[in-house]
Amino acid sequence: MTFHYLESADDPRVSDYTTLTDVHLRKLREPAEGMYIAESSRVLRRALAAGHQPRSFFLAEKWMADLDDVFQAYPDVPAFIGSAGLLEEITGFHLHRGAMAAMQRPAPVPLTDLLAGARRVAVLEDIVDHTNVGAIFRSAAALDIDAVLVSPRCGDPLYRRSVRVSMGTVFQVPWARLHHWPGDLQVLKEHGFTVAALELTPEAEDVDAVASRNVDRLALVLGTEGAGMSPETLAAVDLAVKIPMRNGVDSLNVAAASAVAFWELRARS
Ligand SMILES: C[S@@+](CC[C@H](N)C(=O)[O-])C[C@H]1O[C@@H](n2cnc3c(N)ncnc32)[C@H](O)[C@@H]1O
Repeated sequence: MTFHYLESADDPRVSDYTTLTDVHLRKLREPAEGMYIAESSRVLRRALAAGHQPRSFFLAEKWMADLDDVFQAYPDVPAFIGSAGLLEEITGFHLHRGAMAAMQRPAPVPLTDLLAGARRVAVLEDIVDHTNVGAIFRSAAALDIDAVLVSPRCGDPLYRRSVRVSMGTVFQVPWARLHHWPGDLQVLKEHGFTVAALELTPEAEDVDAVASRNVDRLALVLGTEGAGMSPETLAAVDLAVKIPMRNGVDSLNVAAASAVAFWELRARS
């Protein structure tokens, strides 16, 4: 392993890590360059365990021993070492979790492969808050959702905040981005899925009633924060399901609603 000691924040070898501010990363870096950032040694270990390939490591000197086994396993991947102050100058924030890695985005998994054998699929329509994306993945992993599909405008599951909030479960649950929305819901139907909107519509059935039918293959569509599900999507689904609200509360946060629905509508046999 060759360690590269950084002396200047302008070092072009660490351009993957420069100005990792939210807006900058979202708009420019990750989709354009096919990379994402794994932040903290725990998250980067999970990414590696999922088979993702590192482009480089980036850490303060005092964390070198902690990642020694990782460096041994990837002898050809450069590790950039710097003082805490220099790393902060490069990234634009304080790196209090020790280490980062710039990771190669894995190749997208074909939709047919994701759906083969799946019984419960979550579909996220334009969920834009990365905290919600991460929280939904965490619930999906914990509550036996076999795959997650995200609409073209949905937030990125591999965005730093999504990864962090998901506790690394974005590496665990297979997922794919859909390209035709809501047209791709038809593909789910062709694979034998009942496609249900999780939405408070006047026609929506109570979640308990739908759970009692123990649908064999169920795709559960979650609507965007604020506006909720689009009329086009509601027109494309087979049914709507609601979690009845009490005490004058309008709706649940979408991530909270996902956890309730994933559990209630789990495959029971
Ligand atoms: C915060 S809600 C949008 C609420 C929207 N402003 C409304 O009043 O209908 C975002 C998403 O969470 C889900 N959701 C929240 N509460 C729900 C409930 N009680 N039943 C079913 N879905 C719910 C739906 O998928 C919804 O599209």
